Amino acid sequence: MIDKLALGTVQFGTVYGINNKTGQVPEKEVVGILRRAGLAGIDMLDTAQSYGESEAVLGTALQSLNSRFKIVSKFVAGHHLTPRRLFSESLIRLKSDRLYAFLYHKFSDFRDYPGWHEELLELKTGGHLEKVGFSVYYPQELQSLLDRGVKFDIVQLPYNVFDRRFEFLFPALRKHNIEVHVRSVFLQGLVFMKSSEIPAALAGIRTKIGRLHAVSKKSGVPVSALCLCFGLLNDGIDRVVIGVDGLADLENNLTGLNLRAETEKVFDELCLLREDDEDLILPSKWKK
Ligand SMILES: NC(=O)c1ccc[n+]([C@@H]2O[C@H](COP(=O)([O-])OP(=O)(O)OC[C@H]3O[C@@H](n4cnc5c(N)ncnc54)[C@H](OP(=O)(O)O)[C@@H]3O)[C@@H](O)[C@H]2O)c1
Repeated sequence: MIDKLALGTVQFGTVYGINNKTGQVPEKEVVGILRRAGLAGIDMLDTAQSYGESEAVLGTALQSLNSRFKIVSKFVAGHHLTPRRLFSESLIRLKSDRLYAFLYHKFSDFRDYPGWHEELLELKTGGHLEKVGFSVYYPQELQSLLDRGVKFDIVQLPYNVFDRRFEFLFPALRKHNIEVHVRSVFLQGLVFMKSSEIPAALAGIRTKIGRLHAVSKKSGVPVSALCLCFGLLNDGIDRVVIGVDGLADLENNLTGLNLRAETEKVFDELCLLREDDEDLILPSKWKK
């Protein structure tokens, strides 16, 4: 199952997360986290040009480690820029000669920069990039790409016990051989919050988070393992991208990998937690 995990790295480049109490992960700890991840068999990292210092922090940290990771990064387009230039800037910051995948971070860029997609696909011919794709927030975005027959190899989308909006597209993605990476299995850390800590704007999700905690208590499976294994158990998903705030989170999540069978026993109860209100399940809509 470890081969289905990828490590998210926004937490290494900026202060991130609704439940974050410790700030940005210090560079020294980043090295420890990456070392442990590599030893455990995690072989993929997810980053982006807009995650603060994440790419540069990774570039420095990876120099001191033996592990080789496949790296996924994302770009935001801009006038006076080209995909080739953005790609080479990522490589420079990451001190690497290749990326596994390079994704549009903003779906609107695909529409607003019409020549870019062909140029991105061309980058794959140079031998320094394997896959091109999209990070999306809304099923309509992905559906429109599939409907129009746009060529791409990989998509990253939000998925968790609450947010299952994209599930209906998984069979089509499999049919087209498009790799599916999911993020947000812990909803930025919201799933761990006590009812009293959840902001008033998200009061609508309190009952379901309470029910998730009750399933955890009854089954003896930690919330982290339930949420992680819920993604891992889905055959439509190739990679689950998890974010960690420190080594302790990573260790807990590695332990949680072993609780798939226990999670499977309460799978039907977890399925009942589905929530379609985007104001509650989309972090970009949460009132800051
Ligand atoms: N549009 C995009 O492309 C996009 C957007 C967002 C994120 N991402 C990627 O996805 C990665 C993950 O971000 P996400 O938003 O999906 O976060 P997530 O994985 O849903 O949640 C990560 C947070 O959960 C908490 N956590 C993780 N394991 C835990 C454990 N065992 N026990 C307790 N708390 C634990 C930590 O925060 P606390 O300890 O502070 O609670 C951690 O920062 C990012 O690093 C980034 O690479 C991509």
